[in-house]
Amino acid sequence: MSEYTDFELEELEEQRYRKPKKAKQVEATAAKAKKKENYESNADVQRWLQSQTLKTDDLSKAAFNPTFLAGKRDESWILSSLTDFYEQDLITDVLHVVKSGKEATVYCCTADPETGLAYAAAKIYRPRMFRSLKNDAVYRLGRTQRDLDGNVTRRDQRNAFKSERGRAAQISSWIDFEFQTHTLLHSAGADVPKPLAHVGNAVLMEYIGEGGEPAPLLRDVILTHEEAPILFECILHNIELCLAHNRIHGDLSEYNILYWQGNVLLIDFAQAVDPRQNTDVFPLLSRDIARVCRYFARFGVNTDAEELAMEMWKKYQG
Ligand SMILES: Nc1ncnc2c1ncn2[C@@H]1O[C@H](COP(=O)(O)OP(=O)(O)OP(=O)(O)O)[C@@H](O)[C@H]1O
Ligand SMILES: [Mg+2]
Repeated sequence: MSEYTDFELEELEEQRYRKPKKAKQVEATAAKAKKKENYESNADVQRWLQSQTLKTDDLSKAAFNPTFLAGKRDESWILSSLTDFYEQDLITDVLHVVKSGKEATVYCCTADPETGLAYAAAKIYRPRMFRSLKNDAVYRLGRTQRDLDGNVTRRDQRNAFKSERGRAAQISSWIDFEFQTHTLLHSAGADVPKPLAHVGNAVLMEYIGEGGEPAPLLRDVILTHEEAPILFECILHNIELCLAHNRIHGDLSEYNILYWQGNVLLIDFAQAVDPRQNTDVFPLLSRDIARVCRYFARFGVNTDAEELAMEMWKKYQG
């Protein structure tokens, strides 16, 4: 969702740790955090969140009150998303944070037995997302945007997003596309966690890992020379499958692929694009493939990324 890909964000993060923070920077960060707090309580945004929640008359269910969230600064923000999943009998509790990134935090939840899963991963976009959408990245990526009544908006209707509530609706539409892509790829048989639900600023999916132990990212594992070519082929097959269903991941790298029990699973479809609605998307496909090839070269899989991308693109175009 950000102007940076996960790959670039990780590199920036590493650079940040190399440089000690100056007092002024620390102050600026604290001031920013304060502003963020105010933003969360913005009446417009709160109203919008309320309007997203599921209306239920089911009085048999106890109120959702996960102890993990008690007293956390953004408790109300998180609860407003997760309560819906609880009301829909998808989760029963929140256990811990899996990873807190720039725009979203992923939580490990106990899944409701009705789902047939032990755990679920809830990815919740944070309020800062609502501030960072001042540019027209959404339009450049050609995603379908909807106004507050759910009608598709045109490029010249950007003023509709000037209010906080307007922007909230815009982000919801963006997250909608992420979830829709995720669902589409899952039904197409791609190696992705099972998607469960989407509401407002959050998506819920199968948790990959075992409770306290989330699956590592591909970047954190050392592959054997035997499994590397097999996993490489598997990822390439997934990229091709995505393309056959009119999607390019757009931020694929070892940072957005989980490794679990000898298999790989693609995650994070926030930057996905539909080649039919965008021009000039070949560079995105090419970059996805190049990053995957670069990662696998470390484990002795030598390939020509450019040629692979060209071949796949030609095949897609028929
Ligand atoms: N289904 C899942 N099971 C286990 N861990 C997960 C799952 N989904 C995500 N994670 C963990 O959470 C991290 C963040 O998830 P994800 O990559 O979707 O979001 P992000 O990169 O923070 O957000 P953005 O959409 O802004 O790029 C992943 O790197 C991974 O470690
Ligand atoms: Mg990611």
